[in-house]
Amino acid sequence: MSIIKLHDKYFKSYISEEQIQEAINSLVKQVYNDCKEETPIFLGILNGCFMFVADFVRQYNGDCEVSFVKLASYEGTNSTGKIKQLVGVNEDLEGRTVVILEDIIDTGNTLQEIYNIFKDKKLKKLKIATLFFKPDVFKKALHIDYIGISIPDKFIVGYGLDYDGLGRNFADIYQLTSKPTMTNIVLFGPPGAGKGTQATFLKEKYGLVHISTGDVFRDNIKNETELGILARTFMDGGDLVPDDVTIKMLKTEIEKNPDANGFIFDGFPRTESQAKALDQYLLEKGEAISGMVALEVAEDLLVQRILNRGKTSGRPDDQNEAKIRNRFNEYKTKTAVLKEYYQNQNKYFGVNGVGDINEITKRLSDVFDKL
Ligand code: IMP
Ligand code: MG
Repeated sequence: MSIIKLHDKYFKSYISEEQIQEAINSLVKQVYNDCKEETPIFLGILNGCFMFVADFVRQYNGDCEVSFVKLASYEGTNSTGKIKQLVGVNEDLEGRTVVILEDIIDTGNTLQEIYNIFKDKKLKKLKIATLFFKPDVFKKALHIDYIGISIPDKFIVGYGLDYDGLGRNFADIYQLTSKPTMTNIVLFGPPGAGKGTQATFLKEKYGLVHISTGDVFRDNIKNETELGILARTFMDGGDLVPDDVTIKMLKTEIEKNPDANGFIFDGFPRTESQAKALDQYLLEKGEAISGMVALEVAEDLLVQRILNRGKTSGRPDDQNEAKIRNRFNEYKTKTAVLKEYYQNQNKYFGVNGVGDINEITKRLSDVFDKL
């Protein structure tokens, strides 16, 4: 669930693959019910319908034929201008039941053309099935026999539908949205990588709000907020605080800063389900994670660094090599999942975390500038 960019426009997740398949399943049942005594011809109107037709006919168990047509305009010689014709009708349709499969019916202009063309083809029956329908814009007095999902008058892409050529390949449907205004960064780095120091620089430089989950937890517990008290009951019992409690705390923190340019999330998300919840929450605000920026440092180097720190800090967990390696392994296992999650959205940016502090800040800034 996220925001994507096609050409100059932004689109947000809107209808999932599962919801689409459910709608198709219901359409198939209705059509089958009306056509089971005969062999209908399913006629897809290209290009947008190709995914819909493929999934529809795969679910249809009765006898049927499948064909595709394209609606092409050519300049007419008469004064009314453009006349539409169907390209690709090869079979004799006389006496047959034809079910038009449309991906989307918007104004109904296309549907009107189709009606006009089939009027004198002597069909037995002409039925119209559309996967998506925009009732608020539909202006025609034409009957649509089967409707999958009715949607508001907003442009959608995905599942065969395009915006200026792009987006047809998505399994889900995305809806046009305004440009996100925030820069939201998930900052990652293994223990000892210098994340805290860098976050402090970066929040100043980019005017972002730094949310450190550790601090948020401590504050909530110290101030005995409702969520703090709840979190405590888990911690005192030696259990991990459940995702939904953590997410609620984070949301409260985000909402404390309604005018923020964006956030640096530090120590969150830690699990895929947290990452999904964060995406979903930002989506509802028309925002998204701009990127996950991860400091990459070789394990041996870090272990050495922490051991050195342990000599002066006196922190017991910084003095035991086995324990440090254990923390590191835990980090790797957890982040591997998140790295993949953000990589799948093209939002993972690894940054070399070896070098002096200013140098690393510079490398991070180069990534931040792009986001
Ligand atoms: P009509 O307005 O019903 O004639 O729809 C015309 C065509 O516009 C459809 O077949 C689609 O190709 C395209 N279309 C309408 N609404 C959308 C949309 O929201 N996304 C992508 N294409 C659309
Ligand atoms: Mg179409």
